[in-house]
Amino acid sequence: MLALVVGATSGIGHGIAVTLASQGHSIILVGRSSEAATRIIEECKSKGEGTFTFMKVDCFSLNSVRTLCSSIPKLDWLIMSQGMATIQGYTETEEGFDQKLSLHVYSRFLFANLLEEKINESEDGRVMSVLSGGVHSSYSGYSNDFELKSKYSVKNAADAAGFYNDCWLDVMSGRNDNIKWGHAAPGFVNTKWGTEMPIVLRMVIRTMQKAFGRDKFKCGEYMCEGLVNMGKGKVDIIDEKGKGGGKVTKIHEQAKEEVFEKLSELMKQWL
Ligand SMILES: NC(=O)c1ccc[n+]([C@@H]2O[C@H](COP(=O)([O-])OP(=O)(O)OC[C@H]3O[C@@H](n4cnc5c(N)ncnc54)[C@H](OP(=O)(O)O)[C@@H]3O)[C@@H](O)[C@H]2O)c1
Repeated sequence: MLALVVGATSGIGHGIAVTLASQGHSIILVGRSSEAATRIIEECKSKGEGTFTFMKVDCFSLNSVRTLCSSIPKLDWLIMSQGMATIQGYTETEEGFDQKLSLHVYSRFLFANLLEEKINESEDGRVMSVLSGGVHSSYSGYSNDFELKSKYSVKNAADAAGFYNDCWLDVMSGRNDNIKWGHAAPGFVNTKWGTEMPIVLRMVIRTMQKAFGRDKFKCGEYMCEGLVNMGKGKVDIIDEKGKGGGKVTKIHEQAKEEVFEKLSELMKQWL
């Protein structure tokens, strides 16, 4: 299979890439750091016989996401784990969207929509977003403050991101059951996640990660198990051990079409 892994240059995406390589798959690694990608490609080559390439993209630029997607000729699996962990408030990208939501929601929604046609040609198409499936709360402000311009907080940004991922993945799974769709929660993993936090918080997180965080390669194995075992017809909510069948939030059914429509409207210039 040919997998495109966004966020493959570090952490969980790195763990997923190495697992896929050792299973014989080919990978397009996507991220910002060419140095990390070069190192990880060598690691992948030592694990498997697939082909490994790197495509550089900054997901704060949705223009760049679209350009990258338009250059992909074929694809079987799309896996997205691009992310950031900061305590910043609403922070605009040059395109006018919040940075965190751009990484955790908008860019993921665009990758999936812009690559759907290609993945649809695969005999085994799969799309998985690695964020917070089954572990986030709902975000009740989706109707009147979709972009969190007035209700921004670290918790709201995390809940909205997870909630929106459930919603758009579920709507896409309903309209295209030729592809399997999943939203995974990786659990607490020892990665560089949190290194952009203020120093005291960063030190606490690093200490906790080293003591209690799962190894990123073990996490990669679990995420790949979740990927290949995903069910059809609705979004599969996958837990930190790669087990599917988890629950969406209580307001999911009433909200999902509206969330999807709002995302489509917000992203329309790139779709
Ligand atoms: N680690 C945990 O305990 C944990 C727990 C729950 C959820 N998660 C979620 O899991 C996902 C992966 O986390 P992780 O621990 O693997 O984090 P990580 O080690 O910090 O890796 C983040 C990845 O995202 C990429 N990325 C960040 N900003 C980007 C941008 N503007 N454009 C393109 N790529 C960008 C990074 O690429 P470059 O380095 O090349 O910029 C890197 O490959 C995140 O969404 C995170 O919220 C993690």
